Amino acid sequence: MKRYSMRANEKYQELIAGMDLTKPAPENEPFRQYYFIERAKNKLKEIEAEAGRKLTFNVITFGCQMNARDSEKLRGILEEIGYVRVETEEADLVIYNTCTVRDNANKKVYGRLGKLQSLKRQNPYMQIGLCGCMMQEEQVIEKMKKSYRFVNLIFGTHNIYKLAELVSRSLEQPDQMVIDIQQSADQVVEELPVDRKYSFKSGVNIMYGCNNFCTYCIVPYVRGREKSRTPEEILCEIRQIVSEGVVEVMLLGQNVNSYGKNLEKPVSFAELLVMIQEIEGLERIRFMTSHPKDLSPELIEVMAKYPKICPHQHLPLQSGSSRLLQKMNRHYDKESYLDLVDRIRAAVPDISLTTDIIVGFPGETEEDFLETMDVVEKVRYDSAFTFIYSKRTGTPAAAMEDQVPEDVIKDRFDRLLALVQKVGREQTARFTGQTKKVLVEQVNEQDPSLVTGRMDNNSVVHFPGDASLIGTLVDVHLDECHGFYYMGTAVR
Ligand code: 5AD
Ligand code: SF4
Repeated sequence: MKRYSMRANEKYQELIAGMDLTKPAPENEPFRQYYFIERAKNKLKEIEAEAGRKLTFNVITFGCQMNARDSEKLRGILEEIGYVRVETEEADLVIYNTCTVRDNANKKVYGRLGKLQSLKRQNPYMQIGLCGCMMQEEQVIEKMKKSYRFVNLIFGTHNIYKLAELVSRSLEQPDQMVIDIQQSADQVVEELPVDRKYSFKSGVNIMYGCNNFCTYCIVPYVRGREKSRTPEEILCEIRQIVSEGVVEVMLLGQNVNSYGKNLEKPVSFAELLVMIQEIEGLERIRFMTSHPKDLSPELIEVMAKYPKICPHQHLPLQSGSSRLLQKMNRHYDKESYLDLVDRIRAAVPDISLTTDIIVGFPGETEEDFLETMDVVEKVRYDSAFTFIYSKRTGTPAAAMEDQVPEDVIKDRFDRLLALVQKVGREQTARFTGQTKKVLVEQVNEQDPSLVTGRMDNNSVVHFPGDASLIGTLVDVHLDECHGFYYMGTAVR
């Protein structure tokens, strides 16, 4: 995997020249981490000399795009230390970047840890690290301390920037469990190495945390309160990556529509978008996630006005029942959601809408569920993520009575999925016969004579081509739609 340059790189080289590693670490960031990168580098070299080979790492991501972006930061730091990236769990350092939004995400991690333990028995140099949302839960840490002593390194969502320091400690004391969990973000540390997955597109964090406290959701407890980055920091990062070849950015936040409200000089999300779209060389702007309660008329206007902003909105519905939406603390009802969709469609007629829906929230009746089905039929989503409600300890919904029986949930889930898929197929196919710009992402995994890319509305297109097209925008005639993707032909 290619290692991409970064603004920090030059600065970094300057700063480490002359750094005395026998002295205590500097207190201020990011210098402190630069110091530990150097220390870890030296220790790693010693271990490699002893092992007679290079040491490898693998960071494995569970969950959402925020975690995927965090993993890129972790990889950047590990590569700077000198570890070699591999794609297998038979590596010398395996880090799971965990998710805890639903209970099955936690179960998956426990299951896979068992397998890692047996790999560790065979490799005396192996270290195991865990980070991310699940590690912000107290009972998880207790369980780790008690039953998973073979884990070397545990940290949370607020201190991934400290990875070099933690790895350095862990390499120097391989028999100890290094645990560093912070309850909130003391600081946002920028200017550390990042290893981006794609050279031509990138996620960009615009805010961290969530203040909404939807009653089913654990995210506000594990990701902390909302904190926006300043427009200057965001623009600077985007200009830098655009100069490195990025043409598409995905602005990331739990609720991008409330971006900037708490900044010293408040800036709205719509205003931020206007500034970003001015960046020359940037072709496409995406963002996620939009909370319907905060989606402003200004944002709709801006989406309609600026062609770089992709005609796609991920607009989580959660439920179509106004009664349940209130119990979920979502601050909108069925009518206002449908009205919002109408207003968006009036301004951006071809827009693709996608959503998240939860089935089986406590107290959900058949009538409530039918309201959800009704919204799906009315809105006609291009696609929808459907989830079975998962009880998360500590959230208000976990204490609610009338948890819905499993068989009832299963039946509703199947009906919803069938409807979502039927509507999704019909919606996705609406551009058949047209020519659209496709940003090519990769050579097709099944058929190497094809390449795969995405239209501005996020639909997937396969068409004949080769690796030289990766990262370019190609006009493609959409020949046929096969459910959720198109087969096309490049137009010259
Ligand atoms: N159970 C099921 N789904 C959930 N989500 C969040 N919390 C839960 C839960 N406890 C879903 C929501 C959210 C998406 C990221 O995950 O639909 O939009
Ligand atoms: Fe969870 Fe609601 Fe925040 Fe989304 S907006 S992360 S569902 S609390």
